[in-house]
Formats: sequence, structure tokens, C-alpha cells
Amino acid sequence: MGNAWVLKEDQPRQHFEFGKNWQSFLKVVDEERIAEAENSLRTILETGSLAGKSFLDAGAGSGLFSLAAVRLGAVRVHSFDYDTACVACARELKRRYAQDARQWTIERGSVLDNAYLHSLEQFDIVYCWGVLHYCGDMWKGMANVVQLVMPRGKLFVAVFNDQGVKSRR
Ligand SMILES: C[S@@+](CC[C@H](N)C(=O)[O-])C[C@H]1O[C@@H](n2cnc3c(N)ncnc32)[C@H](O)[C@@H]1O
Repeated sequence: MGNAWVLKEDQPRQHFEFGKNWQSFLKVVDEERIAEAENSLRTILETGSLAGKSFLDAGAGSGLFSLAAVRLGAVRVHSFDYDTACVACARELKRRYAQDARQWTIERGSVLDNAYLHSLEQFDIVYCWGVLHYCGDMWKGMANVVQLVMPRGKLFVAVFNDQGVKSRR
């Protein structure tokens, strides 16, 4: 795929540059893919609508699921990612498909950055899909995102199991 593992000074472990993949994704994203993401989010969240709910997309990647949350009616959506190319991708997605969504904010941030996370409010739904095992300190990241969930809110986390060569391939 031509992506490199690079060591970033402020990141404790090797960091995969997802942003390059997401930039390619921008070439193929269309209404059909967005609708698929909406359906997938509906299934995971077990609800057809996010009306009245706030949604945090921690490690948002392309921003596709944030866009889906906007389309499902969330009153507030905040996306952050450590990778600046991902942030740029999410912003581009917003520009193309949700330009008027004033309730959707996007910025650079890390699940390991306590000061940044403390600057955020709590959310009804915190969605952190496929992120924590990449961040360099999975349990710290987990503890940090838990704190961003409102009382009676919901946390959706997916972590992947590294199976060595098989996973890398
Ligand atoms: C497999 S992608 C998942 C993206 C998105 N959540 C999704 O489901 O499409 C993993 C994402 O985690 C991000 N990431 C890695 N370390 C991070 C950190 N410390 N804080 C925030 N995001 C991070 C990467 O930049 C990448 O966009």
C-alpha cells in the first residue's frame, strides 16, 4: 500500500500514517458509501436516529462516521484525530457533504493528551473505533475516553487483536 511506519517525536510508539490512506479514500467516497456508514452506525448504536444526542468521534480517521452521525441528526458532533492528514480529510468530507453542519467541529487531538481531552465537554455517545490499539498506550487511552462519556451515555470501542504477520499483511 506504500505506507510507511514513522516515529513521531511526541508519540511514544511507531505511528502508522492513516491520513495517506484517507486521502485516497476521498477519491472514491460517494453517497453510497456514506449511506453504508449511516447503516453501519445505526446497527452498532441500535437506533435509527441520533436526534438530541451529542457524538464524539475519537480518532475519527476519514471523518466518515462523524458525517454519518451528522446525517443521523446528532445535535453536536466533534471529531478529532492525531494525524493531521486525517483531520484534513475529515474537513474535506465536511466541505463536500455537510458544509452547513455548524454542529460538527473537527480538530487535531490525541486520546493520550490529557490537557486536550479536559478541554472537551462530555458526550452522550463516544465512538472510538479501531483507534486505541494504535495510540501507544491502549489502557491510558481507554481510561481517557471513558471520562468523556456523560452519565448514562454510551461508549463504543473497538480494538483489534494483533496477529503478527497475518495482521500486517
Ligand atoms: C483504523 S483507523 C480508524 C478510524 C475511524 N475511527 C474509523 O473507524 O474509520 C485508526 C485511527 O486512529 C488514529 N489515531 C492513532 N493514534 C491516535 C491518538 N493517539 N489519538 C487520536 N487518534 C489516533 C489514526 O490516526 C487513525 O485515523
